[in-house]
Amino acid sequence: MRTARWTAAIALAGMLGVDAAPAAAQGTLNLYCSVQIEWCQAIANNFQRDSGIRVNMTQRGSGETLAAIRAEGQNPRGDVWFGGTGDPHLAAGEENLTQAYESPNRTQLHDWALRQWEQSGRRAVGVYAGAVGFGYNTELLARKGIEPPRCWADLVQPRFRGEIQVANPNSSGTAYVIIATLVQLMGEDQAFAYMRQLHPNINSYARSGTGPIKAVARGETGVSLSFVHDAVTERNAGFPVAYTTPCEGTGYEIGSMSIIRGARNVNQARRFYDWALTEPAQRLGFEAGGQLQTPANRSAPLPPNAPDLSQIRLIEYDFAKYGRAAERRRLIERWDREVGSLPR
Ligand code: G6P
Repeated sequence: MRTARWTAAIALAGMLGVDAAPAAAQGTLNLYCSVQIEWCQAIANNFQRDSGIRVNMTQRGSGETLAAIRAEGQNPRGDVWFGGTGDPHLAAGEENLTQAYESPNRTQLHDWALRQWEQSGRRAVGVYAGAVGFGYNTELLARKGIEPPRCWADLVQPRFRGEIQVANPNSSGTAYVIIATLVQLMGEDQAFAYMRQLHPNINSYARSGTGPIKAVARGETGVSLSFVHDAVTERNAGFPVAYTTPCEGTGYEIGSMSIIRGARNVNQARRFYDWALTEPAQRLGFEAGGQLQTPANRSAPLPPNAPDLSQIRLIEYDFAKYGRAAERRRLIERWDREVGSLPR
């Protein structure tokens, strides 16, 4: 009888065009997502299928998502924020825009992912890591007879005039990691002098962190400043792209996840958070999205041909300092004043 009634309900729902899956019963999740769209779609679809919770996903850059969460502070529309560079997640935590959560699955994570969680007062947890480097179009540079860059010092040379692309730190977390890296490598005034010197070699400050490597793949620019895992993604898609990591050392991100303060669907947000830390969910970035970050779950393998962070000369990136909201704002404002607004 019960089965018959259920079948009838499904048939009726079908006629009315209503989704009869248990999704409705499990509620909804508003997911803010700051990784590449393929991965965002894969986690939205897989979590919806695994949990029966209906997912509304919005993909935006890390800086843009922080700005949206800030603007919605009094009336939050998002429930959970997955991915994007760690600094804006730390800034959001400090500004009390996100809430603490202790997932039982945190014990499955690498130390660096947990350190992010501890440092943020349990508000942001690491979900992946990736290093900054130089992506380049092998065919374009060969055709122009330009030797690929190996060091930060190479980029300011005249051979790269108008040949380099990087993102804008107002919208992109990648661009902010690059500024913070240069400041940590050179000292602040030197780093800004370097960025001003680099400016004539930059053909465009893109909105998203992956814009420049996609421009490299399409042959629109010779070189990009990017996360090097994104260069491998383009190469795997068949484009003539290679990367190097800077000889002086480089910075890295701890891509993070946070639950938004005042989330209307906080139970669904916690279920998503627990799920996103599991090994199968952590494999999805590569398996469904072609993404090659280092996963935070210790059992999730490093994808084939992914950059191995232990082989890259990484700086001791000071996440506590550069994730501070005031420091982030100050450095971006200085960049706007001294670099972004310069004529070319
Ligand atoms: C890409 C990278 C991620 C990074 C993100 C930041 O998706 O693969 O590792 O966290 O960009 O994006 P944004 O647009 O904020 O620089």
